[in-house]
Amino acid sequence: MATISSDIASAASLLRRGELVAIPTETVYGLAANALVADAVAKVFEVKNRPYFDPLIVHIPSVSEVGKYATTFPEKAKQLAEKFWPGPLTLLLPKKKQIPDLVTAGLGTVGLRCPHHPLTRSLLDQLDFPLAAPSANPFGYISPTTAQHVQDQLGNKISFVLDGGPCQVGLESTIVGFHEDTVIIHRLGGLGVEEVESVVGKGKLKLDLNLSSNPVYPGQLKSHYAPKKKMILGNLDELLVQYRGEQVGVLSFKTSFALKNSFVLSSSGSMTEAARNVFGMLRELDHCPVDLILAECLPDTGLGRAINDRLRRAAQ
Ligand code: TXA
Ligand code: MG
Repeated sequence: MATISSDIASAASLLRRGELVAIPTETVYGLAANALVADAVAKVFEVKNRPYFDPLIVHIPSVSEVGKYATTFPEKAKQLAEKFWPGPLTLLLPKKKQIPDLVTAGLGTVGLRCPHHPLTRSLLDQLDFPLAAPSANPFGYISPTTAQHVQDQLGNKISFVLDGGPCQVGLESTIVGFHEDTVIIHRLGGLGVEEVESVVGKGKLKLDLNLSSNPVYPGQLKSHYAPKKKMILGNLDELLVQYRGEQVGVLSFKTSFALKNSFVLSSSGSMTEAARNVFGMLRELDHCPVDLILAECLPDTGLGRAINDRLRRAAQ
């Protein structure tokens, strides 16, 4: 079992020795390694059972460090970073040689993010290297939003989880790339499309989420972030009639159903609360004595879009 503790000094010393540490961020927990040392980064792929073609996000302490790892910092990227960092936003920028090819899966860009969590920010301040960190879950499974989630799944493979409490956003970062004058959202996440748009302008923004089974990036895999149980999305009243007699669990947005294994994302209809709850509730449903998970989509605005994206992939 891993030690679960909020002792930053222990986390820093393990990372300096090239070991892995699970770290809290505002989005989800990450599985961190020294991003500049390929041998340390290789352990991340091993522990997560992650294919080497799936690049990792590099976490930095502030906007001022972008120039250390990226060859250019386009004006629009700079504006986004200045407005939303620290926060749930990852910028894809042309990488410098300092970042090992293993981190970026041989791509010419590196994903940079400045996370917003006091413990991890102070950890990054103490280190003289950035942290490569994917979500701290086995590849393809639901992302962890508490230290215990990490313990449950990776506790026998890593020695330390830095405990920063439950994640406040609960969805992974929004990933944004740049091509000439166009800004491209590659993954919906904790920062809403509308917020990105407010900085870059409507006509300049494109979505490339590529919901196919042959994606360019694994975060775009049709089936990802998925529970082990079969999940069906649709109108819950209809689904409950259709699957009457079966052992079902329910994940609803705000309506509560008088059923044993039923979870409500936010009874007040708050998207923020729903985002914070969605991965934890999917996990609980995965562990309930049910054969099937029935769920419904949220309104397709703000964080609802990213939540729906995760629900759709979970239901594939
Ligand atoms: O909120 C987050 O982004 C969390 C926390 C820990 O920071 N991290 C996270 O990492 O979700 P991960 O590895 O689970 O998902 C990162 C996604 C992957 O789908 C990867 O393919 C994509 O980011 N990615 C990373 N670097 C990239 C690059 N250079 N080009 C394209 N996609 C990239
Ligand atoms: Mg992930």
